[in-house]
Amino acid sequence: GHYDNGGYEHYLLKEISEQPDTVARTLRGRIDDRFHIAHLGGLNMDARETRSFRRVKIIGCGSAYYSGQIGAQLIEELARIPADAEPASEFRYRNPVVEPDTLYVAISQSGETYDTLAAVQELKRKGGRVLGIVNTVGSAIARECDGGLYLHAGPEVSVASTKAFTSTAVSFALLALHLARVRDLSPADGRRICEGLRRLPEQIEQILKLDEQIKTLAEKYAQSPSMMFVGRVRGYPVAREGAQKLKEISYVHAEAYPASELKHGPLALINPDMPTVAIVPDDELLDKNLTTLGEIRARSGRILMIGHRVADAADDCVVVPKNETELDPILLTIPLQLFAYHAAVALGRDVDRPRNLAKSVTVE
Ligand code: AGP
Repeated sequence: GHYDNGGYEHYLLKEISEQPDTVARTLRGRIDDRFHIAHLGGLNMDARETRSFRRVKIIGCGSAYYSGQIGAQLIEELARIPADAEPASEFRYRNPVVEPDTLYVAISQSGETYDTLAAVQELKRKGGRVLGIVNTVGSAIARECDGGLYLHAGPEVSVASTKAFTSTAVSFALLALHLARVRDLSPADGRRICEGLRRLPEQIEQILKLDEQIKTLAEKYAQSPSMMFVGRVRGYPVAREGAQKLKEISYVHAEAYPASELKHGPLALINPDMPTVAIVPDDELLDKNLTTLGEIRARSGRILMIGHRVADAADDCVVVPKNETELDPILLTIPLQLFAYHAAVALGRDVDRPRNLAKSVTVE
């Protein structure tokens, strides 16, 4: 690459380490501490229009899609608008119903992913209103959208997306706050979210300090041929992104499942050679998740838990700082980036340029 790697051994580690800064840049000028709202001028929508949407549909590919799943949960939880995410490629191949009262959101780090661009163009042909959450200013997807937010995360060089993933999730928190505060979210809850967002850079800094611990764990677990990643609701997109990162750069096989689905099939795979990474936030589902850990353990499965406390049922625990429950997925993803990075290094992989992959997929 022609960008400076800042003295880091790999761009990936540089980009992971930059996140306190890149998140601060995504937030800059967008939080109003007086009215506890988000300032998102680039959306090009007045309050009445912002109120008019009855549904939100989010599209993107790969990690962009997984960050969109975090986004859909944030919008549904804060703004109480039905929201879901779908791979942009699938969306465009299935002749979707395009509704006038649905807000469409396209996500792309590069802004050049062909499947996402084609989906946006199809939406525009059918009269859909499309916002973009994009990193690259002036890119094809950004130009095609009716408005949106730039991540301001700076160029991402390593093929595996990290800082763009995090900044996209942060952008969705801002968008959710914006949609919520023209609807029913109280000023007090708006304030809670604004304060939570402001704490993120400092908390990411704290997570980066867990690097040595995570490195040791990665070296231990990366010896397994296959790993299971599980999470419930807020933890599920985090599990999917964690599995994606591991597959992409370490080539260790990984599967992500909703923790609740384990007993409907994949529990059959659990044995000492297939450890589980469990995303277990301190939320209303904590007890259910701990029960699942017990079920895995009863089948001699080893467990690495990522959460806000240590638990007896897990063999190893990475404890990250707690934020507001809605915002926790943003932080829980970061240890998994480090985990995949150290696993890839331990296995001697080409971290920044994994085999078979391109940074942006500009063909169909
Ligand atoms: C992320 O680690 C992947 N390399 C990949 O899934 C990527 O997120 C996807 O191809 C979308 O790229 P984009 O954000 O540039 O559109």
